[in-house]
Amino acid sequence: MTNWKQIDTYVRQWLKEARLRIFDSFQKTLDIQTKSDRNDLVTNIDKETEEFFTKNIAANFPDHHIVGEEGFGDTIDKTEGILWIIDPIDGTVNFVHQQRNFAISIGIYENGKGRLGYIYDVVHDELYFVESGKGAYFNDTPIAKMADTKVSDAIIGINSSWLIANRHIPISNLHALVRDSRAARSIGAASLEFAYVATGRLDAYISMRLSPWDFAAGRLLVEELGGVVTTVKGELLQTLKSSTVFVSNKGLHEEILKQYLLK
Ligand code: IPD
Ligand code: CA
Ligand code: CA
Repeated sequence: MTNWKQIDTYVRQWLKEARLRIFDSFQKTLDIQTKSDRNDLVTNIDKETEEFFTKNIAANFPDHHIVGEEGFGDTIDKTEGILWIIDPIDGTVNFVHQQRNFAISIGIYENGKGRLGYIYDVVHDELYFVESGKGAYFNDTPIAKMADTKVSDAIIGINSSWLIANRHIPISNLHALVRDSRAARSIGAASLEFAYVATGRLDAYISMRLSPWDFAAGRLLVEELGGVVTTVKGELLQTLKSSTVFVSNKGLHEEILKQYLLK
């Protein structure tokens, strides 16, 4: 039988250790490379952090599987068994430019079902944690269920580049959403944007492209609190597939889908 308590104890210990390593890197010169385009950055610290987690997981849980953004995990196309989905630094552009507003994101699934989720805001030492079906916590404080809001009172999390061009939703619909809402904000780290929706600091978050490691933990957190996570067309997300993502409290999700995204 899987000892989830033991897994949780290890993860918390590793997150703290990774934090110290990341802080240490602030004093050193980063090795920065580009990936798919000039704004898609990866550093030696992204890679070292992922390697740190994958080595520890493999040493302690040799039969678990790992999908990691930087490729230190396994090549997986099925969700059988226990699967860790890891983004070692979510918000690398913030990490490089701001040295804040980035997170370590870890979602742990068992046979495709969410079990544990961790979004760790490294600099602020703030952990958003969910044990699916058993509750969600901000550090040690339980997070309240998400309340419904309306577009007119809402802060929408959206990266401004999606308001310039995207091939999924007519741009005028997104412009109308931003116009009708109270404000739009972009944090620049998808996992933190999920955490902000979960805690009511944002009312919705929309992205035209996220990868499994961007949403693996956030999705569990938001769903635990009664929120809804779908594509921008209202379809279910697939655990191992990149897609558009739309996250919100239940009432606002319905309103935005109907009045803006599916219009
Ligand atoms: C990125 C961030 C960013 C989001 C991108 C992600 P990375 O992750 O979460 O906010 O807009 O789609 O790829 O590359 O910094 O881990
Ligand atoms: Ca990411
Ligand atoms: Ca990353």
